[in-house]
Amino acid sequence: MSGTAGAPGRSLSVSATIAIFEPPQFDPSQTLPSLMLNGEPETSPLEDPWPTTPSFGEAHGKRTVDIAIDRDTDLYGTGEVTGPLRRNGQTIELWNTDNPSYRRVQGQRLYQSHPWVLGVRPDGSAFGILHDSTWRQSLICGRTIRFETDGPAARVIVILGEDAMDVLRQLSNLTGKMEMPPLWALGYNQCRWSYYPDARVREIANEFRSRKIPLDVIWVDIHYMDDYRVFTFDPERFPDPAATNAYLHERDVKAVWMIDPGVAKQDGYSVYNSGEARDVWIKTADGQPAQGEVWPGQTVFPDFTTKEAVHWWSEQYQDFLAVGIDGVWNDMNEPAIFDAETWTLPEDAVHRGGAAHAGLPIPEGPHLRYHNAYGMLMARATRDAVLKAKPDKRPFVLTRANVLGGHRYCATWTGDNRSCWHHLKMSIPMSVNLSLSGQPFHGPDIGGFEGEAWPELFAEWMAIGAFFPFCRGHTIEKSADHEPWSFGPETEEVCRVALRRRYALMPYLYTLFRRASETGAPVMLPAFLADPAEEELRFCDDRFLLGSDLAVEPGWADKTISLPEDWRLIPPLAEEVPGDIHPALRLRPGGLIPACAPAVSTEALTLETLTLHVNFDQDGHATGSLYWDEREGFGFENGAYTDLSFVCQRTDAGATLKVTAAGQRPLPAETKIIVIDVANAEQPVLATRLGAVL
Ligand code: GLC
Repeated sequence: MSGTAGAPGRSLSVSATIAIFEPPQFDPSQTLPSLMLNGEPETSPLEDPWPTTPSFGEAHGKRTVDIAIDRDTDLYGTGEVTGPLRRNGQTIELWNTDNPSYRRVQGQRLYQSHPWVLGVRPDGSAFGILHDSTWRQSLICGRTIRFETDGPAARVIVILGEDAMDVLRQLSNLTGKMEMPPLWALGYNQCRWSYYPDARVREIANEFRSRKIPLDVIWVDIHYMDDYRVFTFDPERFPDPAATNAYLHERDVKAVWMIDPGVAKQDGYSVYNSGEARDVWIKTADGQPAQGEVWPGQTVFPDFTTKEAVHWWSEQYQDFLAVGIDGVWNDMNEPAIFDAETWTLPEDAVHRGGAAHAGLPIPEGPHLRYHNAYGMLMARATRDAVLKAKPDKRPFVLTRANVLGGHRYCATWTGDNRSCWHHLKMSIPMSVNLSLSGQPFHGPDIGGFEGEAWPELFAEWMAIGAFFPFCRGHTIEKSADHEPWSFGPETEEVCRVALRRRYALMPYLYTLFRRASETGAPVMLPAFLADPAEEELRFCDDRFLLGSDLAVEPGWADKTISLPEDWRLIPPLAEEVPGDIHPALRLRPGGLIPACAPAVSTEALTLETLTLHVNFDQDGHATGSLYWDEREGFGFENGAYTDLSFVCQRTDAGATLKVTAAGQRPLPAETKIIVIDVANAEQPVLATRLGAVL
């Protein structure tokens, strides 16, 4: 590929391992304030020589940036993508696109944009490259890492790290950490397009409870709305949403309801009329509200770059959430439009700006600049509205469209996949690469969205899906039933056991989310981190790590590649039978993970008995930790949590355990602690009470 190299602009240092390179004649007003970063970093001139520097140029009428890489560097990240985990040789178009079954443009464009590459060298050392622009662009992982943008030249941020985790932690120092989610959001989520009428929602909750299949959340999709108008309820299908939500709450089930960005352009519809009166819509280049067909017919779209739209949006949520809605699902926010050839708004549609990001006003700009940020700006406005309406609860928002940095406001799922083996398998590299792009909370539609699953596929998908950070079953409109029991008793049992395994691991999983919110460490990780020196693992995308201690390995993983032998199998957590459909769980040598008895909801979990699975290293040593709090609310910010560090040592008689505790909400001293050495799981190596080892 050709390119004209330009004289470099300023080179700035953020820290000893983070540098910013500006293009020649950099015009900051075109890309700053960066919506991906959580604030402008402090800089000083870069004086020391820097190993990885970009070269700016132009080609095919676009602005280019090339970063030279060594041939043996493995590339990852690049956001939400189809294809393999290792991104070398892949081209990604960063232009958020509604992409049913990932079929459009060969799946090279999906719902999110992450102009970010994580490079890992053969020795495990790593670097990250962020092209700090939300303008439309392509990312080409070839002989160089190349960004090619339709927008103006933008700056590049380079992070150097000891390893991939180090780079990701540093990235989160720039982009911000995820917020601690409520514990219920980590439970099992049951969704379909759509459960209606309200009696069907109640019936689903009752089925889960009577069948003793774990469930925390039921999702209410667009059929609850009155003619698909957002912030309304269909008077026949959902005459009393507050009663429906109260019914769920009595059974420890939360309710997440959908809100799309498109507002039906219908005079007399109060949401439209008030938005019109307040002038909150994105405009066409000639100053009219930009419109397009979505579910309710012609719709207009709030311009979340403006202060007025953000305020107006927040007001809409106050009454809506007052009916007992626990979380919000923002969909179609690329934004997706059915009757546009481009599937979205015109590039020259106008965002008027004025809302603040990190204390700085967002400037006016064309859709070409703000399209990729639209989903994130919507989710941010939603998250702020949810928090305002329920100041004592942790907000939970799920978004389909996003841009790097959006993890600050919301969780995400990988859009409209398909019920097929290929998409089940691809869900691993998709989710792992989202993790490697700084987004900790994500997962696929379990069972597949389009088409229909069959018993084996659904069972396999739930068996592995139970270990993704976000765990939700979903299916398209009019498909056959896709609840765990819909596929017969064998599949139902697989689902029950899979979810019981997830709930047994909740102390570990919750601790991982706490660490993500503290340090930026992802929850789901690539298998190669088990042994960064093992070349074969660099390609391995049929298994993954949950935190750095636990490997999740489905039966269909390629047996010719293996994790190091000393990653030992942990004994059954629920009723799983070794060697059956449930993925093997392996523990890192020196690792210790806390588990509890499974329950049918996160509310019903108790830590009366903590089982610590340990895999002693060569020195007979294992360490781990447990974070636990009130499961909801903000008490933890004032010390209402417990954070235990465990140090376990093998001895001739069994094991000793030392526990140190932080936080002001201790677990009871009589909490039973059972230590299982996974190398010899028949008998605990230690059974004690927390009070005896603190
Ligand atoms: C979109 C979403 C899907 C949802 C449907 C109806 O296709 O991706 O999850 O069920 O819209 O709201």
